[in-house]
Amino acid sequence: MDGNGRWAKKRFMPRFFGHKQGVDALVRTVLACADRGIEYLTVFAFSSENWKRPTEEVSGLMGLVLVAVSKYLAKLADRGVRIRIVGDRSQVSDKLRSAWEQAESSTAHNTRITLSVAFNYGGRWDIVQACREAIAAGVAPERVDEALLSGYMAMSYAPDPDLFIRTGGEVRISNFLLWQSAYAELVFTDCLWPEFGDAELDAALAEYARRDRRFGMVKTGAAATAG
Ligand code: IPE
Ligand code: MG
Repeated sequence: MDGNGRWAKKRFMPRFFGHKQGVDALVRTVLACADRGIEYLTVFAFSSENWKRPTEEVSGLMGLVLVAVSKYLAKLADRGVRIRIVGDRSQVSDKLRSAWEQAESSTAHNTRITLSVAFNYGGRWDIVQACREAIAAGVAPERVDEALLSGYMAMSYAPDPDLFIRTGGEVRISNFLLWQSAYAELVFTDCLWPEFGDAELDAALAEYARRDRRFGMVKTGAAATAG
């Protein structure tokens, strides 16, 4: 969800204003995905590297999460959204941790769409923590394979993503779902996150539909001619 700061700057507003609008874009997008039958949406809200931002911005973001949970949790819960948080919770405040717990427990029964919020998350962190968990569980080295390690990843409850969208014009993955995105279709858009909405989502889905997914295989015969 990149581009909040630039969106605000274009309007001569503080970066925080962009983050605030970013929350609205997120709620809009979750509901738009649910309407389109998408069952899993995962968003990168705060990376392990975002701590390096100025203190005021970091504390502003933490405060914004608390406000967002109190403002939107009931609405999302009502619309069948299940919320899950992925990332290292050990470094966030007790207040934030309990807000996450409340968001997760009060939506645990929902099945329409699972919104995973990656917070204090990094793709490399996830791979490392999965290895640690496996070792702590006493897994023998010869039993370690891709399937086993997948079971220890933070998002083991979800299928791998089919479509990976990055807003804000940068063309890189920036340590998001490294393991899980091995075969994801990547879509990069210049759209700044606060402006993301139905039109951008549908454009990304249309782009996805045009892609030819082979997963390393060669298409032959009927499948190839049928396109
Ligand atoms: C993304 O927007 C939001 C977070 C990382 C929390 P940015 O804050 O990166 O916005 P730009 O890239 O400066 O425009
Ligand atoms: Mg950015």
